[in-house]
Amino acid sequence: MTMDHHEAPVLEALAAYRDRDELGFSPPGHKQARGASPAVRAVLGDAVFFGDLLATGGLDDRQEKSSVLRRAEQLMADAVHAEHTFFSTCGSSLSVKAAMLSVAAPHQKLLVGRDAHKSVIAGLILSGIEPVWLDPQWDAERHLAHPPASETLERAFADHPDATGALVTSPTPYGTAADLRAMADVCHRRGKPLIVDEAWGAHLPFHPDLPSWAMDAGADVCVTSIHKMGSGLEQGSVFHLQGDLIDPDTLASRADLLGTTSPSVLLYAGIDGWRRQMALEGHGLLSQALDLVATVRRRIEEIEGMHVNGPDDFCGTGGAAEFDPLPVIIDISALDTTGYRAADWLRRHHHIDMHLVDHRRISAQFTHADDSDTAERLIAALLDLARNAHTLRPAPAVHVPAPAELRPDQTCLPRDAFFAETEDVPAAQAVGRVAAEMLTPYPPGIPAVLPGERITEPLLRYLRSGVAAGMNVPDPADPTLHTIRVRAEED
Ligand SMILES: Cc1ncc(COP(=O)(O)O)c(C=O)c1O
Repeated sequence: MTMDHHEAPVLEALAAYRDRDELGFSPPGHKQARGASPAVRAVLGDAVFFGDLLATGGLDDRQEKSSVLRRAEQLMADAVHAEHTFFSTCGSSLSVKAAMLSVAAPHQKLLVGRDAHKSVIAGLILSGIEPVWLDPQWDAERHLAHPPASETLERAFADHPDATGALVTSPTPYGTAADLRAMADVCHRRGKPLIVDEAWGAHLPFHPDLPSWAMDAGADVCVTSIHKMGSGLEQGSVFHLQGDLIDPDTLASRADLLGTTSPSVLLYAGIDGWRRQMALEGHGLLSQALDLVATVRRRIEEIEGMHVNGPDDFCGTGGAAEFDPLPVIIDISALDTTGYRAADWLRRHHHIDMHLVDHRRISAQFTHADDSDTAERLIAALLDLARNAHTLRPAPAVHVPAPAELRPDQTCLPRDAFFAETEDVPAAQAVGRVAAEMLTPYPPGIPAVLPGERITEPLLRYLRSGVAAGMNVPDPADPTLHTIRVRAEED
């Protein structure tokens, strides 16, 4: 059946709701903005409240007879070459858990890239799935990780033939992508599914010059955040399914277990509108974004003390199979300060917010929403940063571990450590103890330590020196890392 991508069922149903002058004696209690505080209406605008209504018994009737959501999901599936698509209003943080729970049950093994986002770790904790870690490809010189190699996946399946499937993150927030075709092959030779956390890849299906899209590469499920590289609202996420290794009803029931019973129609509308925009105009919009970012990359590279990471750094011997140029990763180590200081300076002096920030990098995420005006503002600010870098020295040193030091022993299931009896001990006494919490530099949100791992001195030194230098580690009980929550020792 050919689908008409001019349609946008959610947006059309929203407009029809207002045209009919529907009157709700149901949530949400603001009743089409009428009850919202004037001060809130002045800041948010009434459109936010007009679009905020019950999905069932508001946007659609109480039995969803118009299939508004289902039709929007089918259009999305068609646009991205999937067989089934599910919308979620709880971010990819929910979608990725739904995918994991469809592949492995408590105590079953799942092969997981150790560079997974903290939402994946939360999925392991909630489910009791046993992770078998896949080492990412560490770049020891630049101190970052690219997705695991397909050979790593092959070896892990050989060592753990009882693993139920695999989960990898691709692209990474640094824009590097795995060889998903090879990974899907490795999984499918064993009849096992491949889940791809493609939270950073919502735009990939819509332009051939971007890294391969997981559905085209043969993955079974992929998860994308529409608010990251797309133009949906924050928390809008979708997951896509194809093939017969995962039952669509199972996936839907796992998502139902985790999701809200009050999904935001605003988020659905944002997802639906993004699909229509991309299906009709995506190629042109992304071509413009790619042209713009090519120029931006060249111009930032010319700034004294800045180096823009590109495929020459990350692909080939670097380990990444493919590369997305839209996240512009800028190595500022030659400015002899940290990314934390540089980002704070840019916000304070130029009102510009960078994305990934670490001990030696800042990054600027470009999307189809950017244009020469936004690019010029960024470049002017970066030139000013380079001129003023001397004011940001000396920056505190961050003691970054070597790759071999980044893989502590997983002593027990993340769930068992998280729900065990715990104690908060001074950091110095935490070395050698089993972590009972996640310690996650954010962004990008990849836990340096997770429950069940035995804490090592280099890891703790890294995190504590990082926090002293401006790193944000929001998830532990004590974000200052003076104390660490560890598993209580048995008598
Ligand atoms: C790789 C990855 N997966 C999943 C998520 C969670 O996505 P969301 O913020 O949409 O819940 C993130 C968020 O940053 C991410 O980077």
